[in-house]
Amino acid sequence: MRTVYLNGEYVAENEAKVSIFDRGFLMADGVYEVTSVLDGKLVDFDGHAVRLERSLGELGMKNPITKDELLAVHRELVSRNDVVDGGVYLQITRGAPADRDFAFPDPETTPCTVVLFTQSKPGVTESPASKAGIKVISIADERWGRRDIKTVQLLYPSMGKMMAKAAGCDDAWMVEDGFVTEGTSNNAYIVKGNKIITRALSNDILHGITRAAVLRFAQEAQMEVEERNFTIDEAKEADEAFITSATMFVNGVVEIDGAQIGDGVPGHVSKRLREIYLDESRKVAI
Ligand code: PDD
Repeated sequence: MRTVYLNGEYVAENEAKVSIFDRGFLMADGVYEVTSVLDGKLVDFDGHAVRLERSLGELGMKNPITKDELLAVHRELVSRNDVVDGGVYLQITRGAPADRDFAFPDPETTPCTVVLFTQSKPGVTESPASKAGIKVISIADERWGRRDIKTVQLLYPSMGKMMAKAAGCDDAWMVEDGFVTEGTSNNAYIVKGNKIITRALSNDILHGITRAAVLRFAQEAQMEVEERNFTIDEAKEADEAFITSATMFVNGVVEIDGAQIGDGVPGHVSKRLREIYLDESRKVAI
């Protein structure tokens, strides 16, 4: 059984209880982060901490935990739960006021709820999906307009995953005004020649921590990066396609809406970026 963290305490997972009035439960009023763990160390902890701070700020929530405390909790959970490869999930909600109310409660009297737990995934870097690549379908992007804030309102992305499953695929790329925004829980890319193309940052997509690292590594490796919109038709004609996230790292996409991409296996650019990303991340993990 896992040990989890709830509001300052380490408890057994079946003993961690949150109020039915918690705004995370009633209103999806909360934010989260997923930090990957490789060889028992945290990948890009700083990046996740900075994005967390920003998400909280955009929702008018005061960060209830310092970065140092947060790091200590992450490390303590990784250690107590013997996580070698996997991740740490963190969620902060606006807490549990005395009753359901649309108006935000007074933060002085309603403290935030802070929850962290680990997810162990032995051998995650050698997953079947990383070898074979994944198949995606395209769906309309029907999420709200502030996708740059990492909120826990994940119903539409969950529906997207189910639509993909129903179509015999692994994930969905969402499309808005004719252009791909991102995957249900990852950023989306195509490769044309030596050029990596991905949508530019805005409120339309989550500012992926893996994205930032991968684009930096790509540029360091003399690959060209173009941040611009692309369509599903352009993606189908691309040499390669891939996704990035803290849970999938860099993972090839081999089929989009039934059309094979490249040779139908992860392409050499995405394979190389995955290798560089994993190597470099392991080096600087803390
Ligand atoms: N999802 N876009 C969306 C919509 C996401 O939910 C995620 C991450 C990303 C990639 O961000 P990062 O590289 O920082 O993980 C992009 C996490 C992994 C999740 O929900 O489990």
